[in-house]
Amino acid sequence: MNSIDYWYNTVTKNECVTKTPLSSFIKNEQPNIISATFERACNLQCAHCIYPQDTLSKELSEKYKFNEVITNLISQISVDKNPILIHEGRIILPRHIEILKNLKINHPKVKIGLIDNGTYIKVLKHIKTAKLEFDWLDISIDGLKETHNQQRDPIYKKSWNQAIEGLANAKEIVKKNGRVSTLMTLSILNYLDISKLADYLLGNNNILIDELHITPMVPKQPNNYAVNLDQTAFDTVWSQFKEIFKKYNTESKYKCFFKMYNIEDITKLAKSVGLSNIQNAILGINTNKPPILHNGSITFFIENIPITYFPSSIWPQESIFIDADVTYRVAYAHQFTLRQLRMKPELKKFTVTQITPESNLQEIYEQTVDHWWQYFGKEFLQKEQEIFKAILEK
Ligand SMILES: C[S@@+](CC[C@H](N)C(=O)[O-])C[C@H]1O[C@@H](n2cnc3c(N)ncnc32)[C@H](O)[C@@H]1O
Ligand code: SF4
Repeated sequence: MNSIDYWYNTVTKNECVTKTPLSSFIKNEQPNIISATFERACNLQCAHCIYPQDTLSKELSEKYKFNEVITNLISQISVDKNPILIHEGRIILPRHIEILKNLKINHPKVKIGLIDNGTYIKVLKHIKTAKLEFDWLDISIDGLKETHNQQRDPIYKKSWNQAIEGLANAKEIVKKNGRVSTLMTLSILNYLDISKLADYLLGNNNILIDELHITPMVPKQPNNYAVNLDQTAFDTVWSQFKEIFKKYNTESKYKCFFKMYNIEDITKLAKSVGLSNIQNAILGINTNKPPILHNGSITFFIENIPITYFPSSIWPQESIFIDADVTYRVAYAHQFTLRQLRMKPELKKFTVTQITPESNLQEIYEQTVDHWWQYFGKEFLQKEQEIFKAILEK
């Protein structure tokens, strides 16, 4: 049994199948993905962004040997497990390209992905000179031009053009059989644009991307709450999903994906799709498409539309989160600046440990699982149980 089976039994039957705690199962599931925040400063400050404005992290990254640490950690993931390094932003800078290039030379089997807002264009020359090719590139686009700029760049309104330029040049920095995709993060500002954006990116013989990933924002900053999706918006989101999933997904190939990370949004989804629909989908009743349990997530089908939910309680096995000051941090630590995280005693629970080039991956991973479970995981599981119980027992 792994942690997602345990989780599914606990939230659907409200029972523990074994006396072993969930955290013990998570410990056996060391992720093959390192998600690294290479830089905390960003050229934008989007309305929905989980990060606050921050200063350049170069000094701390160099002091604690970001480069060596990443190389050491990734070398501890066996090649059979397909090691992956994700550059999670916030933006890519010339000094990062050196790190990625060295990694590629020393560990050619490691796959490298980049999540970017389009500003990689500013370092395109460096990427090409280094002959660096990504295995995939995610460019975030949050609606058509006007909406995207409203969410991402209301003053200068240049962000859309840069993101589209990023997509137009993607093939130059992505491997031949690599993947180019778009992340659309939903807020109250952009939720009406789902269908139009899907048509723009995937339709009209103007195929700019291989996949479109859509996810509701998770509010963490004070200004985020003002733009979080409300119930009425969620209803409209659902009707647009039905349209684009029918249009762009086939049984053998999916191009549109809906991912959910916030347990509160499951309640909103239940109201939008109807209680019996979501009950049947989660329990696999009256359907030829039962839920699929993956490592770290569950996909259930409502009206043939796949919805993937990532329970926060089992977060540690999603990926290994290395922050720009070379610490192993937990989910949602992004909502504070590096200075706050390093100085404020009440925020210590968001940091597991400072990492060194000698750190042992399994040891720090297990430490993180215990840490997560103690400060966050147990509480998340209780909340997940409550919400699923309220939905399934009505
Ligand atoms: C944090 S950004 C980093 C990379 C780059 N700056 C970008 O915007 O693509 C990665 C992705 O997380 C999304 N994101 C930011 N804040 C979020 C939040 N509060 N909830 C969910 N996703 C969020 C962004 O929209 C983006 O697609
Ligand atoms: S979403 Fe990306 S581009 Fe926007 S502020 Fe956050 S990190 Fe920067």
